[in-house]
Amino acid sequence: MEYKIALIKGDGIGPEIIDQAVRVLKAVEEKCGHSFKFEEVLAGGAAIDAEGVNLPDRTLEVCKESDAVMLGAVGGPKWDDLKGELRPEKALLTLRRELGLYANIRPAVMFEELADACPLKDEIVEGGLDIVIVRELTGGIYFGKRATEGSHAYDCMEYWEYEVARIAERAFEIAMKRNKKVTSVDKANVLDSSRLWRKTVEKTAKKYPEVEVEHLYVDNAAMQLVVNPKQFDVILTGNMFGDILSDEASMITGSIGLLPSASIGEQNYGMFEPIHGSAPDIAGQNKANPIATILSAAMMLKYSFGLEAESAMIENAVKKALKGGHRTADISKEESYLSTVEITDRIIAAL
Ligand code: NAD
Ligand code: IPM
Ligand code: MN
Repeated sequence: MEYKIALIKGDGIGPEIIDQAVRVLKAVEEKCGHSFKFEEVLAGGAAIDAEGVNLPDRTLEVCKESDAVMLGAVGGPKWDDLKGELRPEKALLTLRRELGLYANIRPAVMFEELADACPLKDEIVEGGLDIVIVRELTGGIYFGKRATEGSHAYDCMEYWEYEVARIAERAFEIAMKRNKKVTSVDKANVLDSSRLWRKTVEKTAKKYPEVEVEHLYVDNAAMQLVVNPKQFDVILTGNMFGDILSDEASMITGSIGLLPSASIGEQNYGMFEPIHGSAPDIAGQNKANPIATILSAAMMLKYSFGLEAESAMIENAVKKALKGGHRTADISKEESYLSTVEITDRIIAAL
């Protein structure tokens, strides 16, 4: 089969890590006989510099015509003084919204081999960690009414019942294939939108009597993640809470450079991106961990193309490389560490 993939490298470490994911996909292509056709398009700071807009029309068109999108990361200090609508990050939000990608699946899995990179005490993560964060991606405070009016500014957190219902549905479906527990995270003790969230999740839960449901306030959830992360199976939450909790969860697995994500809608189509940003502090140094992006490519093979075996092949190669002690700077305990390209060499060799 031939698959068309739109590539948005983005800013900072974006190009370095996407290049590594492409190398891995090309190696899979050779081994498995599939054909991946890549088309590079611009978004974010790179698009602002080249074309004066954060999301050129052509980028959106190519993304829509493709079978899937891979994105590195967008943003950086160079564009931080731009107004909200003009910033690189707005391109990512527009892409998610325009492509209807309301479900952001962020698995936080701790590889056994990386237990020593976890900052928590051994007994807290003994036996590993395997959580999936299901984050609502096209609603909430990111897309509510907003304005700056002189010395006053606001961003409204708004949710429609249908928006909560469809993401809850996703979370319960995922839980059914796992340990059958959903922890819904909100701030229902304070926010109206969270009370609607909780009521809607309860309604959806009735359709899944086998799944245990629990509701936590987000402040408690943040605390529980470091005190007893193993209690979680699927965490279902809104756009902003999910953004924050997934960075926290990533660090428990060893580094933010490890966590992939899939942003999907009703169909198989999706955008695949690491959860981290453009890491301007290490950009251009061949130092970034490409594993989050490589695992995002693996998620693309599984979610968008149905290539389960090939997806597992990439995951296993990553595990094998880590088992061999190969590590980038963010997870290395030694003075020495591998570069972005070198760790990818090891992963490709392990395929
Ligand atoms: P960040 O995730 O870019 O970086 C936070 C820290 O993690 C930095 O110290 C960085 O060096 C480190 N880090 C991140 N990815 C890494 C990797 N693969 N390997 C090793 N270390 C890694 O977050 P930030 O500094 O808050 O944001 C920087 C820019 O990225 C901002 O402009 C922000 O808006 C943007 N951003 C974009 C996305 C995205 O495009 N999906 C996501 C988050 C942040
Ligand atoms: C992420 C990022 C984005 C978000 C920003 C860059 C818009 O932090 O993908 O986690 O907040 O969703
Ligand atoms: Mn984020």
